[in-house]
Amino acid sequence: MHILGVSAYYHDSAACLIRDGHIVAAAQEERFTRKKFDARFPAHAIRYCLQEGGVSLRDVNYFVFYDKPLIKFERLLETYVAFSPKGVKSFLAAMPVWLKEKLLMKSVLQNELVSLDGAKKSDLPPLLFGEHHESHAASAFYPSPFQTAVILCMDGVGEWATTSAWVGDGNTLTPLWEIHFPHSVGLLYSAFTYYTGFKVNSGEYKVMGLAPYGKPKYVQAIYDHLIDLKQDGTFRLKIDYFNYCTGLTMTNGMFDELFGGPPRKPESLLTQRDMDLARSIQEVTEEVMLRLARTLHRETGAENLCLAGGVALNCVGNGRILREAPYKGLWIQPSAGDAGGAVGAALTAWHKLENQPRNVAGSTDSMNGSFLGPSYTNDEIQQFLKQKDAPYTRLSDEALFDRLADELASGKVIGWFQGRMEFGPRALGARSILGDARNPKMQSVMNLKIKYRESFRPFAPSVLRERVADYFDLNADSPYMLLVAPVVESRRTPLTKEQQSLWGIDLLNVPKSDIPAATHVDYSARVQTVHEDTNPRYYRLLKTFEAKTGCGVLVNTSFNVRNEPIVCSPEDAYRCFMRTAIDILVLENCLLYKDGQKPLEGDTNWQQEFELD
Ligand SMILES: [Fe+2]
Repeated sequence: MHILGVSAYYHDSAACLIRDGHIVAAAQEERFTRKKFDARFPAHAIRYCLQEGGVSLRDVNYFVFYDKPLIKFERLLETYVAFSPKGVKSFLAAMPVWLKEKLLMKSVLQNELVSLDGAKKSDLPPLLFGEHHESHAASAFYPSPFQTAVILCMDGVGEWATTSAWVGDGNTLTPLWEIHFPHSVGLLYSAFTYYTGFKVNSGEYKVMGLAPYGKPKYVQAIYDHLIDLKQDGTFRLKIDYFNYCTGLTMTNGMFDELFGGPPRKPESLLTQRDMDLARSIQEVTEEVMLRLARTLHRETGAENLCLAGGVALNCVGNGRILREAPYKGLWIQPSAGDAGGAVGAALTAWHKLENQPRNVAGSTDSMNGSFLGPSYTNDEIQQFLKQKDAPYTRLSDEALFDRLADELASGKVIGWFQGRMEFGPRALGARSILGDARNPKMQSVMNLKIKYRESFRPFAPSVLRERVADYFDLNADSPYMLLVAPVVESRRTPLTKEQQSLWGIDLLNVPKSDIPAATHVDYSARVQTVHEDTNPRYYRLLKTFEAKTGCGVLVNTSFNVRNEPIVCSPEDAYRCFMRTAIDILVLENCLLYKDGQKPLEGDTNWQQEFELD
């Protein structure tokens, strides 16, 4: 039985194909269209999933959309009515799209499917609509390695729920409770994302990365004015300070007054106040996450916790749950945002509608390391390189890993393209840019000459699973880079008195440990553990590097420039390599040096190609 799950029309569209309950393929539309967070119908992603599965639409038994547009519409209407006559402007802005497209979702989807495949409407599989938070919960529990667990979903908003709790047992998911719009920890975080001058729905990472530079100066003001947080972690927002119910922005004049001025203009200089705001909202969010996690443990006695929803991408909060909440196991859906809803929707049809059992395989999950996207053979790559007339050498595995380990140790930056592309926002060693974490210059080189992005943001370390505890205060699997942990004391370099008075970029450039390129200013790191079974080639590269240098860590950042979706094809990778200061490109076994490549013709305005994120 084939089931196709789809999430679309809000943010980061995606498709997923499952066969007899096994995830065959999953991908985000942005990777194919090269438009970041593309929210359109994921025609390319669907076509890829079908091709990977070797099936056509006629072979698909169910097509499942990840939420219910009608309930979303009801929320929108009720919200406008409740706040009427405020919000007329945003009501008028939103309505045409809703009336024309979203309410007619069924026929919109059917038409899209027909034009995708040339099938007749009568040939199409039955169309089902899941529920937004159930899709999140399903994406967190069904692929997890647990037979039983409690599931916590936190996001901005879907239909009505913004936070929900579930109990998972075998193939059943039972709802416990939910918190409804407009009370939302995701929207609260997004309000601060907006206020500190970043883009809502994508800049939340930047706020989290900025937080360690700040002081928690505004925590009390947030509790006093913005959120009524109960002991058990449930909460209500004081909606007077926000504008998202009726307006076209996140915050309003009362919010500005509370924090002493208007929002920061995007791309303008970051000030200490922005950092203090980031730190403060980060602390409040961690407190909400921790209290909810503890309450669920107290109320259900569950040994395992699963997380999904956009807030579960807050890996600092996840790290605190791991260390401070009393669970034996923690599993987080790698595609925790709405793209992952496609996986959850498909799995819900299989386990709930078809009542099929789950096969829980001990300690491993069923996401295949999140390597669920397209791959390319050496032959396909060589064909592409010949057509580009790009000089390259094809090496055996052994020669390749040996050469790359030497090049990394000598300070070279490598574009690394191997196997199936990752599903979800993180690069995990299939489409990654790699560097030597011990190199004190690596962080600024990668930020400024390769990613062309804000220099305050740290890079993530990839570490051999068996060596994670040598470097970090963590002894758990973190294959999806969703846990932040401190660098162990013994590796830290204490700051001098003079250094302690620095801030911002100056502080960033002071080496803080023996892996400075992957250590944030508060000695934390967003850790990825690399496992031999799910990530064998990346594991081997790390092993070879370790044998030569004694260091079991590399810096891993996604293979893209700022604002660009992560590369998908060899062509995307080659283009990104040529546009940046990446020294070496590795496409499977084909090795390319920057020296010797002809510059791309007529590619001078590429920085305008991508919208600011
Ligand atoms: Fe969501």
